[in-house]
Amino acid sequence: MSGLLVPEFRHANFRGRTRETETPEENVSQSASRRQGAPRHLLDPVETASRDEISALQLSRLQWSIRHAYDNVEHFRVKCQAAHVHPDDVKTLSDLSRFPFTTKEDLRQTYPFGMFAVPMDQVVRVHASSGTTGKPTVVGYTRNDISMWADMVARSIRAAGGLPGDRCHISYGYGLFTGGLGAHYGAERLGCTVIPMSGGQTEKQVQLIADFQPQIIMVTPSYMLAVADEMERQGMGPDSCSLEIGIFGAEPWTDSMRAEIEGRVGIDAVDIYGLSEVIGPGVANECIETKDGLHLWEDHFYPEIIDPETGRVLPDGEMGELVFTSLTKEALPIIRYRTRDLTRLLPGTARSFRRMGKITGRSDDMLIIRGVNVFPTQIEELILKDWRLAPHYQLEISREGHLDSLAVNVEMRPDQPFDDAASAAAARDLTHHIKALIGVSTRVNVVAPGSIERSMGKAKRVIDKRPKS
Ligand code: DLL
Repeated sequence: MSGLLVPEFRHANFRGRTRETETPEENVSQSASRRQGAPRHLLDPVETASRDEISALQLSRLQWSIRHAYDNVEHFRVKCQAAHVHPDDVKTLSDLSRFPFTTKEDLRQTYPFGMFAVPMDQVVRVHASSGTTGKPTVVGYTRNDISMWADMVARSIRAAGGLPGDRCHISYGYGLFTGGLGAHYGAERLGCTVIPMSGGQTEKQVQLIADFQPQIIMVTPSYMLAVADEMERQGMGPDSCSLEIGIFGAEPWTDSMRAEIEGRVGIDAVDIYGLSEVIGPGVANECIETKDGLHLWEDHFYPEIIDPETGRVLPDGEMGELVFTSLTKEALPIIRYRTRDLTRLLPGTARSFRRMGKITGRSDDMLIIRGVNVFPTQIEELILKDWRLAPHYQLEISREGHLDSLAVNVEMRPDQPFDDAASAAAARDLTHHIKALIGVSTRVNVVAPGSIERSMGKAKRVIDKRPKS
């Protein structure tokens, strides 16, 4: 380690835990939810700090983080030397843009532990993300990293309306995936009673929800749908279900999906974002009182939006690729990590931190069908607009001659009549809407309820049947 301590946040005008400008009206919930936004006195002081205070903290932490990575990670030092940059060059936050990006490829080249900045005896845990090809990406945590991560997930659950004393049912997978254990430590840190269910065993999930009466569920939105189907099968409706808050993430999902889940389960559905390379879940979270995008926990993770083609930093408000620099991580400091996730930065609302819009998709998930760019979330929006169709769908991409073609397989809702005529009519309408609104010709197959494979974690939305080149 560099021997330097991570700079602490000290609030200039900090009295108690309350901002001077605070009024009770600021905290009014806009939804018909049973939960309000967290009372101001429960927030971390930095969540309501001024932008100047936040920027000053970020700069001192950025200087620390870049120095720490440079001194202790040879791979990073060599890249900086090749780019003729040095930690002493960081005089302002915008100087960060002079430093080289980090990509998944850097982590692959240094597999498994080559990007770690501390000796292995200080690494108390590793996680790994499976990746579709080749070796997994390995990430490591010191005791302080695990503690900071728990703080960020606790902050996220609080932003979602969760409170100490709530029971929190966790259906994110436990294991090398960061979802289960990340959520678990954060819920404990907030003071919740944790039910560490993990993914799968859908019948038992619902049984335990009935028996243990949790107020919070943390799960991927696609698996929540499978749990909601099972709830209905077991006769548990929105009124008889104890759940009040769902904290959904790990995959893209739309506002239409939010409405679907909220209506069926009778909860507030709130978005949580994160990725293993940065920490895991708890990099950003929506606030229940506004549900207007995810507040980024900018005191620990510094965001940039870049043009994915040129790498140029884009101003706030413009869509591009999200890039993160960790400001306080010890074991795996990550500088300008290219997430491939597409979104934009927006000013803060319920908190002083900036927000990111819901992720539209990953640049590597973008389908290019006969020259038209398509994200699965665009198709999801249109499926959910049709009351006959269920939100269970999969896209199949194949090659006909030299051209790619896209098939959309989607289920009919179980309460709808399912016969050839009904499915052909629904397929015809969806084909038309996709062509009219996205501009791409598709083949839509409306299939019987229950025919599309359910995910236990992240849904596999796209099946690529094109011959491998
Ligand atoms: O999925 C961490 C996580 C677990 C986040 C549980 C939220 C809840 P990875 O497996 O490394 O980590 O995958 C990270 O998942 O780059 C995004 O593409 C996607 N992703 C994560 N959260 C969201 C979200 C976890 N809320 C990758 N919306 C990221 C859209 C998301 N995509």
